Amino acid sequence: MPREPKIAPSLLSADFARLAEETARVPGADWLHFDVMDGHFVPNLTFGLPVMAAVQAVSPVPLDCHLMIEDPGRWAPGYAEAGARNVTVHAEACADPRAVARDIRAAGALAGLALKPGTPLETHLDVLADFDTLLVMSVEPGFGGQSFIADVLAKVRTARRLVDTGELTLIVEIDGGINADTIEQAAEAGVDMFVAGSAVYGADDPDAAIAALRAQAAAAMRG
Ligand code: DX5
Ligand code: ZN
Repeated sequence: MPREPKIAPSLLSADFARLAEETARVPGADWLHFDVMDGHFVPNLTFGLPVMAAVQAVSPVPLDCHLMIEDPGRWAPGYAEAGARNVTVHAEACADPRAVARDIRAAGALAGLALKPGTPLETHLDVLADFDTLLVMSVEPGFGGQSFIADVLAKVRTARRLVDTGELTLIVEIDGGINADTIEQAAEAGVDMFVAGSAVYGADDPDAAIAALRAQAAAAMRG
């Protein structure tokens, strides 16, 4: 069975004054990526749980919450309780990632672990057994519209191999700088879920941009 590429547009690149309309513009998305930043873990501040719950209530697709925050164990279960499909926390911010994963799952969501570009995969392989999603950051977290860091694809290749051999069961997700120029190399390396902010919401027709990215990734996966 060939892998089916999935696309998660990031609301970070949408018009924050029109979140309901922006959400409705991407019915063809697989997940809607929701970037929570606290101004401490990253030098930027976006939105939190009340806004997530409001978006969740109108979104035609499941929410994928990416928590770029300190002390994520305190906040992550709330996003799951509010109905997120997936809640991802940063390895660099977690004292006990396994406990956080357990709490997210108990609250009804998939649990994700995110790695910044400079964070190695090897030292987190043991805890990944307790997660459903691995989010490989391909930019430094904090801002949309940055350039893709291709070096992180080594982590994607390793994760893909471990999933394909059955050693881990994970959705391999990539986030940062994904667009028509970069999605093929990410697809070839083994990504399942592609986050795209500016490449989707910067397009005249965001839903058409999703379809085009998905088709490009599928062609690259077929080789
Ligand atoms: C960055 C966020 C990303 C961001 C990606 O910290 O985690 O999800 O929205 O935006 P693009 O696709 O424009 O790089
Ligand atoms: Zn993100």
